Amino acid sequence: RNGFPTDSSMNYIQFESPDRDMFLKGTFDEGFVWGVSTSAYQVEGAWNVDGKGPSIWDTFSHMPGTIADRTNGDVACDSYHRYLEDVRILNQLGVSHYRFSISWSRIFPDGTISSLNPLGLHYYGRLIDALLTNNIEPMVTLYHWDLPQALQDQGGWTNDTIIGHFNDYARICFSNFGDRVKLWITFNEAFVVAWLGHGIGVFAPGIKDMGTTPYIVGHNIIRSHALAYNTYNRLFRNHYGGKVGISLDSDWFEPLTQSTGDRLASERALQFKLGWFANPIFGNGDYPSVMKEYVAKKSKRQGLVNSRLPEFTTEEKRMNRGSADFLGLNHYTTRLVRYTSSPRVPASYELDQDLYTTYSPCWNTTVCDWLKVNPWGLRKLLDWIKNRYNNPTVYITENGVCDTGEVEDKGRISYYRGYINEVMKAVKLDGCDVKGYVAWSLMDNFEWASGYSQKFGLYKVNFTDPRRPRTAKSSARFYSNLRSNNGFI
Ligand code: NOJ
Repeated sequence: RNGFPTDSSMNYIQFESPDRDMFLKGTFDEGFVWGVSTSAYQVEGAWNVDGKGPSIWDTFSHMPGTIADRTNGDVACDSYHRYLEDVRILNQLGVSHYRFSISWSRIFPDGTISSLNPLGLHYYGRLIDALLTNNIEPMVTLYHWDLPQALQDQGGWTNDTIIGHFNDYARICFSNFGDRVKLWITFNEAFVVAWLGHGIGVFAPGIKDMGTTPYIVGHNIIRSHALAYNTYNRLFRNHYGGKVGISLDSDWFEPLTQSTGDRLASERALQFKLGWFANPIFGNGDYPSVMKEYVAKKSKRQGLVNSRLPEFTTEEKRMNRGSADFLGLNHYTTRLVRYTSSPRVPASYELDQDLYTTYSPCWNTTVCDWLKVNPWGLRKLLDWIKNRYNNPTVYITENGVCDTGEVEDKGRISYYRGYINEVMKAVKLDGCDVKGYVAWSLMDNFEWASGYSQKFGLYKVNFTDPRRPRTAKSSARFYSNLRSNNGFI
């Protein structure tokens, strides 16, 4: 299971796409969005400043043994105090959009509306105004993993009273910033919240349960999303005319061989990862049928009366269906999928699916063990989305690569060049409706359980200098040129 299995039927050539060597020259349509992204806990610092309440990431990163390099986000890039520096480098890049997230516990320190903190609202108001003054459009994520600790103390995403609290929080953000923010993302990577936070427990809140909890968490996230979307429609859409979507993460899953078993397994892997959230929202309002079938089957085998996967009511399915104006896609890597009738721990989320995944030794490795470089996977994934969900509007809301932080970052340039070219192929050759590309990340930042050891930034941040100076890497120049040319000329 660790390492690549030896298998005589394997022929690595099949993992290459037909036009893998083809480089497509051309430009995107006018108005194509070029952005960069960060998230609150990863860059802001000021974790206990101006009335902010603690979040689950404050609690988690302050616990021994949770973060690889024993760091935390207490100061991070200090963007809370240095956001004008961020706006300056965004300007230098020339991007049209900046994707950042709002910290729920800055707005509601105890998670509920009764604790509303005007200083929190004031900070994001200033950031948004500074962006707009510089002709940079904000793309705002409401939930990028930093749940107010006070809500976690009541069960967090496992307690469905959270749906109402999230709705209050979303409503306050829409009403305070909706005149200036036209692109909203309710959740970032629901899968990661469910599995890494509540399945394998390597992310906050650190709950380990391979059984039911991740599915309950996913369920409440989808219901929260659908309600917030409905709230925007009812109260703000006519007035502000913005768009509300969700950012979902998915790798591309390529069958390891062309056997029927492997092909079905790779479809299952996509349905369990992306379909889990995309099918309710962009499909028929419900979980993918293959997911319902497999979780029910496995639950039964464990002697449970009910499936571990909760069910939506008819009314909820109606609310879910079509509850997004766009799909935000976070994509980094490809995995190879192999059918197995006896999946083993610790492959966690593969447990219910009768498969395991691995990587091709042909793909370049990076300092992140989960990230191997395979650009054409992004095109295949975009094609899959187009075919499954009737060609929805997609923004790539994250894509990028990690290294140890060199300023001459040739690997990052070749990553962006390859992946963005595959986006162009998906748009121009396959007709996918991709309206924008947002790189992860504007600058090096706190990479969750990996701390500061894995860097994704177009800008380097000097974390030993209290002023946290930002320095452009080679990739920043490359990306900026790509943006000015609106593609590859
Ligand atoms: C996913 C997350 O949304 C982001 O917070 C993280 O830093 C990047 N991908 C890289 O792992």
